[in-house]
Amino acid sequence: MSSTGLRVALLLVAALGRAGAGVGAEDSPHSHERGPGQGHWSYKDWQEWNLHYPDCGGMMQSPININTAKTIFSPQLRPIQLSGYSLPSKERLKLKNNGHTVVLKLPESLAITGGYAQQYRAVQLHLHWGSLTGPGSEHTINNHRFPAEIHVVHYNTKYDNFEEAMVHPDGLAVLGAFLQVGPRENPYYRQILEHLYTIQGEGEEVLVPGFNIAGLLPANLNLYFHYNGSLTTPACYQTVKWTIFNQTVQLSQDQISVLVTTLRGDDDSPLQNNFRRLQELHGRHVLASFQTALTSVKQLPPGSGGSPGRPPLGGAAGAKPSLAPRAGGDSSSEAGAEKHTSSFQAGDVLAVLFGVLFAVTALAFLLYIHKHRNQNARLDSPTKSKVIYTAATTDENAV
Ligand SMILES: *[C@@H]1O[C@H](CO)[C@@H](O)[C@H](O)[C@H]1NC(C)=O
Ligand SMILES: *[C@@H]1O[C@H](CO)[C@@H](O)[C@H](O)[C@H]1NC(C)=O
Ligand SMILES: [Zn+2]
Repeated sequence: MSSTGLRVALLLVAALGRAGAGVGAEDSPHSHERGPGQGHWSYKDWQEWNLHYPDCGGMMQSPININTAKTIFSPQLRPIQLSGYSLPSKERLKLKNNGHTVVLKLPESLAITGGYAQQYRAVQLHLHWGSLTGPGSEHTINNHRFPAEIHVVHYNTKYDNFEEAMVHPDGLAVLGAFLQVGPRENPYYRQILEHLYTIQGEGEEVLVPGFNIAGLLPANLNLYFHYNGSLTTPACYQTVKWTIFNQTVQLSQDQISVLVTTLRGDDDSPLQNNFRRLQELHGRHVLASFQTALTSVKQLPPGSGGSPGRPPLGGAAGAKPSLAPRAGGDSSSEAGAEKHTSSFQAGDVLAVLFGVLFAVTALAFLLYIHKHRNQNARLDSPTKSKVIYTAATTDENAV
């Protein structure tokens, strides 16, 4: 009954699962420790994950769909800063096919030094992909799935190692970015992809020369989404502070094809579609480090115009034009979420905005009634009716 008791029991189950089977997670650096029986998970058996790994059935799971219209602009989300990511070619890194993905082990000299409240050290990176016929990113943006996704896994330096950190709520930070098809070969991804043919079988590994690991991520590390979630493979620990970059990384079509066709998985079949199903938000909020089109009207940064020490969001303004909101349907719940963080200033703007919109809509409605009455009596001017109709619908779309 006591929550402490429950927690102890869950920790025990988790520990037993780990001891008996190895974590088996591609998000774990020790994924090769795979025991017999229950530790052998697969993407096909996703419905059974939570039988052996209770966290997989939790309320803060990953991946999620990110509805950009519902994200909350948070000016305190600073640009992500990386250090030690540029590795000399004389350094050798282990690249491994663990049956679930390809994992590049990273030296502990790589770290996140800005953007998070605490310091995180890198352990490994890996990829998720689809097949020749379908995309395979784990996260989706406005329900759009990208061809592939990279995850760079870090642990909080206040813990001794990854294994200890991964069971604590503030233990892990994962940087995620979407891979898309572009016109050119990507030289950074080439450093990984050119070795895949030597590790086609599950469990095979190869040493590859160091390179600038940051080149695998987007150039712009200022624009991102942030939320609290989990590892996307068993044991699904809910200990990941996620950063999903808004800028994508471009690979050539040939490179994407090599990624999705070269490796084999556990049953010797092609290693494809290694992404987990979308998980429910369960009331979680997704923050954005930048203003999206819809939020820019409603979500003025707290104390905007006077936030000391904050440089102008030059990257955000210049890097990407925000797209117009797709539908008005989400705006009410977004406004609801917004109440938690916005200032009075934003509220005032909203009130005036809605007042004006209401007045315009009411006026349009009255004119419409009036016109209809006239129409019953005699034919009205078609231009006039057109103007009124257009005005009314335009306002509706704007809300
Ligand atoms: C994530 O969890 C921490 C600790 O509970 C909390 O302080 C923070 O606000 C959460 N972040 C988001 C984006 O909800
Ligand atoms: C980046 O943000 C814009 C504005 O919210 C959005 O329309 C776009 O889909 C986002 N793309 C990614 C990859 O996050
Ligand atoms: Zn992953």
